[in-house]
Parts: sequence; structure tokens; C-alpha cells
Amino acid sequence: MYDIVQPKILCMGPGALQSLERILRQMDPGRILIVTGPNLRKAGILERVLGSMGSYKDRVETFINPVPEPDVTIVEECARIVREKGYDLIVGLGGGSPMDVAKGAAVVAVHEEGMRPLLGRNLLRRKGIPTILVPTTAGSGTEVTQAVVAYVPEEETKKSIWDPRTMAEAAIVDPELTLQMPPRLTAETGLDALVHAIEGYTSRYANPVSRMYTREAMRLIGRYLPRAYRDGSDLEAREAMARAATLAGIGMSNSGLGAIHALALILDHKGFTHCQSLAVLAPWVVRFNRLGHEELYARVAEALGEKVQGLRVEEASRKASDALLRLLREMQISPYLKDYGIRKDEVRSLALGAHRVGQRLLPMNIREISEEDALAIFGEAYGS
Ligand SMILES: [Fe+2]
Repeated sequence: MYDIVQPKILCMGPGALQSLERILRQMDPGRILIVTGPNLRKAGILERVLGSMGSYKDRVETFINPVPEPDVTIVEECARIVREKGYDLIVGLGGGSPMDVAKGAAVVAVHEEGMRPLLGRNLLRRKGIPTILVPTTAGSGTEVTQAVVAYVPEEETKKSIWDPRTMAEAAIVDPELTLQMPPRLTAETGLDALVHAIEGYTSRYANPVSRMYTREAMRLIGRYLPRAYRDGSDLEAREAMARAATLAGIGMSNSGLGAIHALALILDHKGFTHCQSLAVLAPWVVRFNRLGHEELYARVAEALGEKVQGLRVEEASRKASDALLRLLREMQISPYLKDYGIRKDEVRSLALGAHRVGQRLLPMNIREISEEDALAIFGEAYGS
């Protein structure tokens, strides 16, 4: 048996933002805090969101999240403001970072001990302040996940509050809000969604329903990410990518991640963006995982659009990493550590560190990964 958890209301598709006033009327909040990033104001998206709130606009104040990756301090700072000013609704608007700050502040505000003791699985004692999440990228999926991710500086790693009580009341996924993303951000966020889909699909804890979401996400991303990357104004591709990122988020949140995200944790804080960390690991982890799970990875290859008909399962499964490498090439993202300034003599300690730091997520991976295996994966990732 398994649970499937997702927001109560999911508004999807071009123009979905227009539903915001209707949802607000159902909730009728007295004071609203919008948590967003500095670029959203500049891009005029904050204005558009305010314009979709009807008379509720007069009840809004904003918190600008200044950091690209949220840390515990900024979540606690936001939670303190929420508590002091008594907001009864938080709207998270932007990419994964402002949405995570919004979700985090909503639950930390009702727990007096701060964020650190809440990091882990199901440690919340009460439901947070209601949230509405409005993504403006197609990647993190945090609008539909039951997790809040934040960097813990003293431990030099990201950790998460994993609890269904972090779930948003409503997610508004309007692809029109993603039209302004430049090609690089489209590629990076799209790759994150793709890895959520692949890892959610192949996770040890996947179930038939989570697989339905993640398989469709892989299919959409394989087909539409290159199009959205090449032409950001292609609304059909943007719509498919926005839907895919959200489906991948639901799937992954109800199954788990795997060794790509686990081993990437250490790189995320060595000057790599989250996408770069995933890019240098995804093809090689998929190659590693395939052994003993050929049937599963043949299905991944097929979902990503590879021609597998008539092939033996063994051959078909090899095409999963081929598909990944092809997508990365099309978006000019290198899958090799050496292209990101890593020296060959650093690879060993990086691999061992990744294996150590990744222990929280590694048990979800379909294949067990020993230190030796991590060394081999990082060896391939270095590039020849
Ligand atoms: Fe991710």
C-alpha cells in the first residue's frame, strides 16, 4: 500500500493565474505575505500576480528572498516576520528557492524551536500557515512536494523537512509565467525536472501511481525540453514543460529520489549549480543502475523517446544514458567534471565525500552503491 499526497487544488495551463482571486475568495485570508525573488519584481511578474488578486491585493505585503539557494537563516528570518505580523496566508512566487522559503516559513512560524530541529522525516507537530505556490520556472516541482529543502551552513549540506504538513493548499502552474526564462535557465531547470522524473520512476519506493506521473514527465521532457530551450516563446513547449515539472514533482514526492541527487549533494556546494551537479552524475549513475534493472531502464529509454522496438532489453536499456547525453549535448551542458575546473587528483576525495554526505538519499536508489562504486562513477564523470 502507499499514500499519494498532493496539494488540494492544482490549477494548470495557460491563464491559470486568473484563478488566484477565486482561490483567495475560498480561503479569505486577512493578511497575505508574498515571498518572491528580486528578479520577479524586475520582470513584472509580481505586478501580474498582484493584478490577479482582486481586492485581496490591498492585504498583501512582500518579502524578497535575496538568496538563490535558501538556507536555514533566511527561512527562520521569514518565519519570524510571519509570526510577528500575523499573516494567515503565504504565497510563494518564483523558482524553487522562494517557494521553499515560503513553505519553510509557513511551518517554522508555528514551531517555536526554529528550523533545525524540524529537519528530517515527519517531525512537524502541527500544520503550518496555508500556502499558495506559483512557480515561474519549470523545474524544482516544489509547488507539489511534501519537502522543504534548505542549506545548513554548519554542516555544509542541504537538508529537508519531509512532511505532508508542508504541502501547499494550492499550486498555480501557469506556463505563461515561464515564457521569460532565458535559454540557460530553461535548460537548467528542465534538467532538474528530468532527473526528478527519472529518479522518481526508478526509486526503490516507486509505486504504480507515482510511476504514472514520472513516466509522463519523462515523455514530455524528452520531447519538449529541446524545443523550449531553442525557442522560449513556444507556448506549447512551455506548457508541456510546466506540466512535466509538476508531474515529476508529484511523482518524486510520493516515491523518492536516488543516487544522482544523493551524490550531487556535495557538488551543490562546491561552486556547482544544482543542474551542473546533476549533469555530471546523471548519465553515469543511470549507466551504473541499469545493470540488473535492464527492464526498468529500457522503459526509461522508451519514455525519453528512444527507439527501442525490436531491441533486446539489454540493448534498449543502454539507450537511457544515451538519451541523457544527447539532451545535455543539445543544451550545451557538459557531463564531465573536468569541464567545471575539477582536477583529476580531487576526484577520489570528492567521490568518497559524496558517498558519505549522500547517505540520507542513497537507500532510495534502486541499486546499492558502495564506496568503490562511487569511485567508479566519479571516475567516469571526470571524463577522459
Ligand atoms: Fe533536484
